[in-house]
Amino acid sequence: MVRRVVGALEADAAREPLIWPHVDVETLAASLRASGDATLVAIDDEHLVGHLYGFVLPGAAGPEAWTGPDGWSGEASVIDALRRRAFDMWRASGVASHHVWVSDDASITGAWIEAGYRVHDVRGLRRLDDLDAEAITPTPAIRRGGAHDLEAALTFDELIDVAHHQPVAPASARRRALRELLEDPDVSHHVVEEDGRALAQCITFALEPTRATPPGTLHVSAVAVVASARRRGVARTLVRHVLAEAREEGFTHAQVTWRPDNAPANAFWSALGFRRTYARLRATLS
Ligand SMILES: CC(C)(COP(=O)(O)OP(=O)(O)OC[C@H]1O[C@@H](n2cnc3c(N)ncnc32)[C@H](O)[C@@H]1OP(=O)(O)O)[C@@H](O)C(=O)NCCC(=O)NCCS
Repeated sequence: MVRRVVGALEADAAREPLIWPHVDVETLAASLRASGDATLVAIDDEHLVGHLYGFVLPGAAGPEAWTGPDGWSGEASVIDALRRRAFDMWRASGVASHHVWVSDDASITGAWIEAGYRVHDVRGLRRLDDLDAEAITPTPAIRRGGAHDLEAALTFDELIDVAHHQPVAPASARRRALRELLEDPDVSHHVVEEDGRALAQCITFALEPTRATPPGTLHVSAVAVVASARRRGVARTLVRHVLAEAREEGFTHAQVTWRPDNAPANAFWSALGFRRTYARLRATLS
């Protein structure tokens, strides 16, 4: 199974050079062993021809099964058979939906989409060694934020929910989660301020090196600009500033996830030089 996963990763990396092709084989083998009975395998003529592993996690509307890029392998027909079996297993534990990360290439996503999945998020990466240095002096001012910016962060969080056509969660639950995030010493909050008013924000943290993500990658998230200040280059200035700072700190890459049906975000991240690497697909268990 390790060989299959490593081979698939190499194929992903050959398609998209920003996909990090190295994998810690021992860690991968240990995690596959630890997944035990939860991994379904397909055998043909005594040969392993596919596998599927889904980790069940609580979700907003009940348990959900999650499959990472390492969690599946096989031809479309093999995956179909594994999925049918997995769906039966998950349904019995009340799972209502399945999320799977796959290389964001039509030759890979196509079969999943045909099987009823929809692209939910995409992951994009960019290198930091080719940043355009002249954009680094920020106007308006950019400062580090934190828990004292909780009310502004809540407003930005709502703007993101609205952009994602998603019901805005109750403020009390969001306030608790956001406070925890902003108080986390490993998380940085960046705020663009004009005349004492927060115009935009983003949140960044270092990513653990995982499959397909290079070491030295900064995750950039929760970018939002108040509606009245959009299309003035505010988010571009903010993100370029954050990326330049990250490069100074020794980061080599930045990663973002966004929803491709969020048209401004889709255009924005492409304009900022991020290239799509992986897609998260979602299906409901019917
Ligand atoms: C996405 C968002 C952060 C962009 O902020 P912004 O300050 O308006 O973006 P900028 O003015 O810096 O735009 C930079 C480039 O991105 C692209 N872009 C940004 N918004 C766009 C839009 N609505 N339509 C098309 N392209 C857009 C353009 O290429 C633009 O360059 P140009 O103006 O020279 O053509 C903003 O629309 C927003 O806050 N949306 C709601 C929250 C959200 O969806 N956040 C993203 C979560 S992943």
